[in-house]
Amino acid sequence: EVFPSSQDAVAKLAAETAELIRSNEAAGKQTVLGLATGGTPIAYYKELIRLHKEDGLSFANVTSFNLDEYAGLPQDHVESYWYFMHQNLFNHIDIKPENINLPSGTVADADIPAHCAEYEQKIKDAGGIDLQILGIGRTGHIGFNEPGSPKDSLTRAIELDPITREDAAPAFGGLDNVPTAAITMGCGTILAARRIVLMAWGEGKAPIVNEAVTGPVNDIVSASYLQEHANSVFYIDQAAASKL
Ligand code: GLP
Repeated sequence: EVFPSSQDAVAKLAAETAELIRSNEAAGKQTVLGLATGGTPIAYYKELIRLHKEDGLSFANVTSFNLDEYAGLPQDHVESYWYFMHQNLFNHIDIKPENINLPSGTVADADIPAHCAEYEQKIKDAGGIDLQILGIGRTGHIGFNEPGSPKDSLTRAIELDPITREDAAPAFGGLDNVPTAAITMGCGTILAARRIVLMAWGEGKAPIVNEAVTGPVNDIVSASYLQEHANSVFYIDQAAASKL
């Protein structure tokens, strides 16, 4: 779906999220959100915060699972995704800390497989993800599912693509400071969500959006797997749609 501006897209997605949370709440159910980091979802999180403050939207019945975390970064590192999520969303809403889930960047290598299996189990125990929010990286990755990620992959450690590290370099003050690996939900984890919305804004995203939407479905562009999901949609602005 192409919107006149990113703000229009974000308003629709936030309204849709609020409706989901409220209808689940009325039925006595938790809402499970799959959340993403990066510059793209910041405006969406701002809109959710606004709905919380001005429209009484409560997150007391929301459980969240983030897509990924950089390997080696403690929670209080300013570039960790834990830090990002607290700064940009969690510190401003009434979600319960015990309902917030992110992969850990600091588990010992030997414990990573068990940590990842536990993350998968937690998502299952929560009833699965109702709404998964995604951005898209220049390599076509969703979460950190870099080229070569199988469609049925689960939460695991992954080596970051050089392009992804290059894109992150300014935020880390140089390429040398960018982690080389991450823990990410797999493509299979993401595709198990009942609804998936991928957001993309700006001309820079136009080539990869075009590949993901109209290109072949394969592991070179993990976002292409979304073509095979029955309830997934791209919310994009005019500029991101310019190569479609
Ligand atoms: C990182 C994140 C992705 C995100 C991508 C694009 O690689 N792991 O989840 O989609 O960056 O980031 P941005 O939204 O800043 O363009």
